[in-house]
Amino acid sequence: MLQAYNIHKSYSDLNVLKGIDLSVSKNEVISIVGASGAGKSTLLQILGTLDKPDIGDITINNQSINGMKPNQLAAFRNKQIGFVFQFHNLLPEFSLEENILIPSYIGGNSGKKVSDYADQLMRMLGVYDRRTHKPSQLSGGEQQRAAVARALINKPSIIFADEPSGNLDSVNANHLHSIFFELQKQLGQTFVIVTHNKELADMTDRKIVMADGKISE
Ligand SMILES: Nc1ncnc2c1ncn2[C@@H]1O[C@H](COP(=O)(O)OP(=O)(O)O)[C@@H](O)[C@H]1O
Ligand SMILES: [Mg+2]
Repeated sequence: MLQAYNIHKSYSDLNVLKGIDLSVSKNEVISIVGASGAGKSTLLQILGTLDKPDIGDITINNQSINGMKPNQLAAFRNKQIGFVFQFHNLLPEFSLEENILIPSYIGGNSGKKVSDYADQLMRMLGVYDRRTHKPSQLSGGEQQRAAVARALINKPSIIFADEPSGNLDSVNANHLHSIFFELQKQLGQTFVIVTHNKELADMTDRKIVMADGKISE
């Protein structure tokens, strides 16, 4: 599904990533752990095509990212990649349902089929009853679960999550974590999750430890 070859990234004289090789198989849930400053978020941004490596390449579904023009890359990202961040980044003036549907509108899809799929996702994620509410009217757990539904709406090949439960209490964190594995089972979804949550990391198919810009385990 995803291959990263020899990824290097520096910010001026700070070498943040020092040669990362990584492959992710379809339907795998992997975690990336490591101390703050190890380069986890930088790696996730590069794997997710939001940032470019200085050296190295990413292929997703056998398509190389390096050769893509900005428009092509944006369309590719919209279709193939989902993101969940530590803070939900839902747009405050739109309802939860509208927030979830925005990536499908951007991708040129609207109509009954996609709104039915949004309903299905909202039911799976336990936010269907709150679909007409604005993000500020939802709990932190509901906001994060809506952000997961938004990441899923275009049926992406892979979802990248950067400390998705970092801002949740343990009950809501555990609920969110169980949803990742439910989605792996029911939709065959692939996830790469950066986390400080040991319990979550231990539940994933593979745990990758980063230290000082390299994969150490
Ligand atoms: N845009 C940037 N400009 C300069 N330095 C950055 C930038 N992004 C990250 N860094 C630095 O790169 C290092 C790794 O950061 P990051 O990938 O966020 O680590 P982690 O997510 O593992 O905590 C840190 O020293 C951070 O300060
Ligand atoms: Mg980080």
